[in-house]
Amino acid sequence: MRRVFVVGAGTMGHGIAEVVALAGYQVYIYDISQEILNKAVEKIRWSLEKLQEKKKIHSVEEVLQRITPTLDFDTAAQESDIAIEAVPENLQVKKEIFARLDSLMHSEAILATNTSSLPISEIAQATKRPNRVVGIHFFNPPVLMQLVEVIRGSSTDEETIRKSVEFVKSLGKTPILVNKDVPGFIVNRILGSIQNVACHLVYRGEYTHIEIDSAVKYKAGLPMGLFELRDFTGIDVGYMVAKALAERDPAFRQECPLIEEYYRKGWLGVKSGRGFYEYKSPGERPNIPREAGEKVNVVRILAAGVNMAAWLLRNGIASKEDIDIGVKLGLGYPKGILQYADEWGVDEVVKELQYLYDKYSLLLAKPDELLIKMVRDGKLGIKTGEGFYRYAT
Ligand code: 3HC
Repeated sequence: MRRVFVVGAGTMGHGIAEVVALAGYQVYIYDISQEILNKAVEKIRWSLEKLQEKKKIHSVEEVLQRITPTLDFDTAAQESDIAIEAVPENLQVKKEIFARLDSLMHSEAILATNTSSLPISEIAQATKRPNRVVGIHFFNPPVLMQLVEVIRGSSTDEETIRKSVEFVKSLGKTPILVNKDVPGFIVNRILGSIQNVACHLVYRGEYTHIEIDSAVKYKAGLPMGLFELRDFTGIDVGYMVAKALAERDPAFRQECPLIEEYYRKGWLGVKSGRGFYEYKSPGERPNIPREAGEKVNVVRILAAGVNMAAWLLRNGIASKEDIDIGVKLGLGYPKGILQYADEWGVDEVVKELQYLYDKYSLLLAKPDELLIKMVRDGKLGIKTGEGFYRYAT
């Protein structure tokens, strides 16, 4: 593979084009207006300058030269060996793009989608080569996040999986394989569960978003607060992902009303200057006081992530190791979510889930069978010598 076609120059598209160019590939980046393309190049330049300041690259211009912004979809498709689609989470739009890519790209070309939540198998149906359609899912910001999920659709063949895994490795990233096309895959299911429950707690007045962000940053050591992350990724992106998950998975159907409210008001996060926090410049981080989270029980906030991880494990979708790698490299957590559970105690996690389920009827907090069994079997984590992992006593 020599030339890569990134379709969509938004939050993810521009970052993916940057990563691909950094690895030495020629890349076309397409969007529907010159203004969007100009903004994307500006953001890529900002990011490359940061990397140059840190002596991670020699020349910004050399990397930029490999990126061709274009409004000419057809030529870019005809000349590329792999396409990575990163347009908004709308199944119809994605299907139209895949049908067009299929008709234009050479027969060996791989058609990949960076979708966060839509089914690869359905997108693939818009093409005559569903065996060459795959999910290649990056995390924001692609240039800094080490993880990429490679997702197998129901028709994806082994050769496509192998080439996609090799391609991801050639970008210097760590691939994890998602063997079933479940909505949200691994990391977004876990993050979506945590964020959904946290948002309901704010909506219902149990904690403020600043209290929660402070607790997860300073008590659990997460790199960003949960609401800070929503602003960073984009309230619109989160809204679309939540909608797609809710439509396809009953466990996610209780969407948090605050997200729709912010989306409708145009409070889209960092990019619009306001989301849960206010921003005056693109690289700005909100001020989250350390003491704000003192009264917050951090297990209550993160327990839904453990619950979802247990569901993924129980259903054979991912191994415990891949789940923890996913959380560490895709979300920047200092520990895997299952390692946290072993530290806190699985019984403690179940207690907090039960509290949330009884008080707010949140489906994502209904304790998973695997957790209940672990408590019954006395596999409570570090304190009993075995939880998700074993510990020397
Ligand atoms: N390119 C280059 N440099 C960048 C950058 C970028 N895109 N973004 C930030 N930086 C720089 C900063 O400017 C800063 O530089 P400085 O040291 O010169 O000031 C440096 O990186 C470190 O940044 P910060 O000090 O602001 O912050 P952190 O140490 O917290 O690191 C982070 C930033 C890597 C983004 C970290 O906060 C993190 O891991 N956050 C979690 C991100 C996450 O969870 N992403 C996944 C979201 S979900 C997703 O993407 C799925 C999708 O489907 C929606």
